[in-house]
Parts: sequence; structure tokens; C-alpha cells
Amino acid sequence: MNNDNIIAGEDTLDPQTLLKKQAGESAAEHVKDGMVVGLGTGSTVKWTILKLGQMIEDGIKIIGIPTSVRSEVLAREAGIPLSTLDAHPEIDLTIDGADEVDAHLNLIKGLGGALTREKIVAACSKKEIIVVDDSKLVDVLGTKAPVPVEILPFALEPCKISLAKLGSEPVLRMNENKKEVYKTDNDNYILDCRFDSITNPVELEQRINNTPGVVENGLFLNLIDLVMIASPDGVRTLPDQFS
Ligand code: A5P
Repeated sequence: MNNDNIIAGEDTLDPQTLLKKQAGESAAEHVKDGMVVGLGTGSTVKWTILKLGQMIEDGIKIIGIPTSVRSEVLAREAGIPLSTLDAHPEIDLTIDGADEVDAHLNLIKGLGGALTREKIVAACSKKEIIVVDDSKLVDVLGTKAPVPVEILPFALEPCKISLAKLGSEPVLRMNENKKEVYKTDNDNYILDCRFDSITNPVELEQRINNTPGVVENGLFLNLIDLVMIASPDGVRTLPDQFS
């Protein structure tokens, strides 16, 4: 497919989408010929995927490992050859979005529902870049976003009770029509757990994941190498370069 057809002209984009595009496309510059690349999920990394499609048209060879069915479909449309973690359990570089980013490069992810596969792919990646617009920056995790927790449907009520005891208000995620329960690509439910503020994310992540029935949670701690942040002043990175 010619990717020019699926990339909107910049003059038609609203300001926040334009920032997402700038962050997403900048990160693609870190992708080199021959790499196995983890493809994140969301409206920011979408621009990375489309850019990678253009780079493939221009001759670069890469293999993508998608983190969701949505990204798999988009990547196929963009012409990116795809594979699996079974065939490529070691990923050179993953690029993904986030819902909150703190100064320590810790994240909340999963408002798009792909947190479990995203965390597995992150853990398999030698390097992980996060692309965001500057609205995602927070001093303390939990300031704006709930922590999404993927759970087995069988354990819905016990998980609600346990996660409430950890200090959150768990809300079962519904589809956009508000009539059906949202299901992840893994056929599980998500409880969106709002915490007042998360002062000890390491302890909280462990306590959530120690709850029987919890599959994974959206706290991404010590997994990220670089965050690319787009603002009206341009794209800056945290830290200044790859460590
Ligand atoms: C998907 O499950 C999420 O982790 C996304 O990466 C996150 O929600 C960021 O998405 P946007 O780039 O659409 O804000």
C-alpha cells in the first residue's frame, strides 16, 4: 500500500495530533536496517508505524512485533513484515506510547487496553523508546490517569475487592457504547484503578500483581531507555540521549 494514502496532510491535523505525529515520526529515526522492532499501540505510535512503512518503501528491511491486534492491522496496511515473539524473543528496539510519564522514566500505560502485550514486548526489548506529547508528563504517577489492571473475567469480584483494599476505586472498563464489557486482545477484562497519588510505584506494582486473578497492570517501571516528548517548542528527549 502506498502510505501517502493513509497519512493525513499536516494542515488537517489538530495541534495535539500534530505533536503526536512529530513525536512518533522522530522516534522512527532510531530504527536501523535489519532490526527487529516492537510496535506499540495508540494514537502516537501510530505515526511511528506509518513512518516505518514509508522507510520500508524506501528500502530499509525490518521485522515488526505488534503489541495489539490494532497495531498488527495498521502495520500490515503500512507494509511492515511481521513476526512473533516465538520466532523473535529478543527485540532490538520497541517504540510505544504512554498515558503518564514521570521524571524517572516510569509510566502508566494501558488506556488503549494493550498493556499486557506491551509490557511483555518491553521486557523482551534491548531498548524501549516512549513517544508522547507534553500533556503526558506528570510529577507523580496517578495524577491524571488510572492504573489499568488486566484481570481474568473469572476473578472480577475478588479482584475488585482486593484492588479497593490497595486504596483504589476499581472501575470495570466498558466498550464505547457503554453496554458491553471491554475485552482485551487476550479476552480478559480491565479494571481501571484510580489511586490518589502513587508515591511508591514499585511496591504498588508488586502488590497489584500479587493479587490472584490479575494478569498484568499498567505501571511500567525501569523498562524505558528514552522518552521523546513533543511540545510546541519541538521534540526533546529524556534523558538527553540513549544511556
Ligand atoms: C495502549 O494500551 C496504551 O498503553 C497506549 O500506549 C497509551 O494509551 C498511549 O496512547 P496514545 O498515544 O493514544 O495516547
